[in-house]
Amino acid sequence: MSAPPPVVAPSILAADFARLADEARAVEGAADWLHIDVMDNHFVPNLTIGLPVVTSLRAATNLPFDVHLMIDDPRRWAPGYADAGAYNVTFHAEASDNPVSLAKDLRAAGAKAGLAIDRDTPVEPYLELLPHFDTLLIMTIKAGFGGQKFIPAMLDKVAAARRHVDAGHLELRIEVDGGIADDTIAQAAEAGADAFVAGTAVYSAEDPAEAVRRLKALARRP
Ligand code: DX5
Ligand code: ZN
Repeated sequence: MSAPPPVVAPSILAADFARLADEARAVEGAADWLHIDVMDNHFVPNLTIGLPVVTSLRAATNLPFDVHLMIDDPRRWAPGYADAGAYNVTFHAEASDNPVSLAKDLRAAGAKAGLAIDRDTPVEPYLELLPHFDTLLIMTIKAGFGGQKFIPAMLDKVAAARRHVDAGHLELRIEVDGGIADDTIAQAAEAGADAFVAGTAVYSAEDPAEAVRRLKALARRP
């Protein structure tokens, strides 16, 4: 069985927040998902956007939304993003005391369920939970800010997850987030990632759609 084609998800964290609808449309036709970073100034120090903005943006583009919740108490907020039409809702393992139960709720609300693992969290304790999830997001930086440097050591976690997913024939995307660019995406793909978030590399480019296409070509595993 051949691997599914890679998914590239531009992160609007690096876009112009005064022109979110235009910035989303700028990658339509090239991007697979639009990655939306929700930060609450508690789980991470930074503060970004929440449900009202995601709801408005939902009406402005046909790209599937990949919502990355960097928030405390995801049980309270995550289902609202599924109700707002998100394709995938990812919450952090570090913020949840019952990830499987929340994953079930997200799927029941019609979304895919994602589990995120921050820089300092090992992946092994979570591997057994993966049948309940559709995406596993492995941070390749410390969650909280765009524009940080990719940490190659995080790829050991990607490789461990890939072995587990393949051995169990699980249908799950392994997503990497942080510092993904032309010079890092191939190694992440090589380690076994098949979904790639890119903020700075897409939105600081002259032509964001072209940057997405280039990343996707570089992510194709031989
Ligand atoms: C940071 C966010 C990332 C961020 C990545 O915590 O989760 O999605 O936008 O930005 P770059 O691609 O610039 O590292
Ligand atoms: Zn993110």
